[in-house]
Amino acid sequence: MIVAGNWKMYGGPDPAALAERLADVPGVDAIVCPPYVSLARCVAAGLTTFAQNVHWENEGAYTGEISPSMLLGLGVAGSLVGHSERRQYFGETDSDVARRAQAALEAGLGVIACVGETQEQRDAGDMETVLRIQVEAIGAACGAHERLVLAYEPVWAIGTGRTATPEMAQQAHALVKSLLDRPVLYGGSVKPDNADELMAQPDVDGALVGGASLDIESFAAICQAASLS
Ligand code: PGA
Repeated sequence: MIVAGNWKMYGGPDPAALAERLADVPGVDAIVCPPYVSLARCVAAGLTTFAQNVHWENEGAYTGEISPSMLLGLGVAGSLVGHSERRQYFGETDSDVARRAQAALEAGLGVIACVGETQEQRDAGDMETVLRIQVEAIGAACGAHERLVLAYEPVWAIGTGRTATPEMAQQAHALVKSLLDRPVLYGGSVKPDNADELMAQPDVDGALVGGASLDIESFAAICQAASLS
């Protein structure tokens, strides 16, 4: 089981205090994804640390971007790619996401690649098609790489308090796995009180947690739920 905390553009908890609390929760791979400026502090605290995005080149004229080798140099273990906020607000396409994932894996980083449908796409009956296109783009670039993990995050469930039901999550995860046979995390309003039932689903291999990862006790409770499931 993997539980990753995406701090987004928030300061997040004190890394040392978080590391100390997580030491009491064995049996789960806990990952933090802080903003770039906090990566080094999280690494220094002994946390398994991922960036929130990574570029496909190792250097170049790409203002505002950070490369795989720069992350490796800091002791960072991997990166998110394709988060829906990157796709929605920064115009990242499936091919950008695939390039970022492929370069990060080739450099030796781990990758959590995010996929998920919007409410409009679900209402239009296009969930399967959308997931298929997103996952196949990643699969074509990376294959079932051993350091690749996928995250199913329905966009309508992110930051809204509306979680997919365990059955909806299971159905989507089974589809994603049938397209690319790698572990799949669920993300979208995961909280301590719904983590158990989500992670009890056979194809849910952990969680990608946003808001609830900003609080040490909430994040630890979700890690605990994962370790017990
Ligand atoms: P949320 O965010 O848990 O706050 O819904 C999840 C995510 O964006 O990864």
